[in-house]
Amino acid sequence: MTIQLYYYLLYAWIALALIAFPFLLRQTAPYGRHANSNWGPIISNQLGWMIQEGVAPFFISFWFFTGTIEKTNTSYFFYGLYVLHYIYRSYIFPFRTQTKGKQIPLIIVGSAVFFNFCNTFFLGYYLGNIGGNFDNSYFTNPLFVVGLVVFFIGVYINVKSDNMLIALRKPGETGYKIPTGFLFDKISCPNLFGEMIEWLGYGIMNGSLAVFSFPIWTVVNLLPRALDHHRWYHSKFSNYPKERKAVIPFVL
Ligand SMILES: NC(=O)c1ccc[n+]([C@@H]2O[C@H](COP(=O)([O-])OP(=O)(O)OC[C@H]3O[C@@H](n4cnc5c(N)ncnc54)[C@H](OP(=O)(O)O)[C@@H]3O)[C@@H](O)[C@H]2O)c1
Repeated sequence: MTIQLYYYLLYAWIALALIAFPFLLRQTAPYGRHANSNWGPIISNQLGWMIQEGVAPFFISFWFFTGTIEKTNTSYFFYGLYVLHYIYRSYIFPFRTQTKGKQIPLIIVGSAVFFNFCNTFFLGYYLGNIGGNFDNSYFTNPLFVVGLVVFFIGVYINVKSDNMLIALRKPGETGYKIPTGFLFDKISCPNLFGEMIEWLGYGIMNGSLAVFSFPIWTVVNLLPRALDHHRWYHSKFSNYPKERKAVIPFVL
């Protein structure tokens, strides 16, 4: 594939994100608390997460290692951070959640596999064939350092908030409670906020449009979900804190 074709596809991928965003704002994704039986065949929630996220490390490895440019420590660093995140998300996180007996529609699993296929193509092909292979001095570049700090702030917010949500249920429980403490006192979905910050940091760290397509898509996927969660909390709990925002503290 020529680099020119890659960039045409990348622009189309980013344009698709902008087109999908208003649609996703109107269509609640039917998994987790929003799951219902109108979306066709279903499978175990944990298996679904393992499949849909577990393909990502394999897909990106293919594109990265079949790429022809010389890999440097920074190339391996960008690749490694992505892979570590997805190993956690697919093979550790689903088994920490209290969701035994819950189901996920196959169509959600299929669309997440499709998303990961495209996303890993754009990241992996870029890192394998086009850029991100800086020399070691890039590790002290202000852009890289700021991005790295933002990335780990996001990881911290995401993992801590997910841990607090998981801890709301005793073993065997499947219902929902009002979370409190940490950023939950400010927003309904700090875990999704943290995930957006994390990949924004990843994009800043690398500085390329190719890698920035991932944070763009993360916002497109997670901001509507956070707004859905927020509305759902208000409809489910009459005593839900009125001052709490949905996903961006003090703003939204
Ligand atoms: N990068 C991306 O594009 C992307 C896309 C999707 C998800 N993710 C990440 O994957 C993780 C999970 O996403 P998600 O959308 O499933 O998050 P979520 O809806 O907030 O759920 C997280 C976990 O906590 C449980 N939970 C949530 N609120 C609860 C409450 N009030 N009381 C009791 N239990 C509660 C959920 O159970 P139930 O499943 O039973 O609701 C689930 O096991 C997050 O870290 C998210 O950032 C990333």
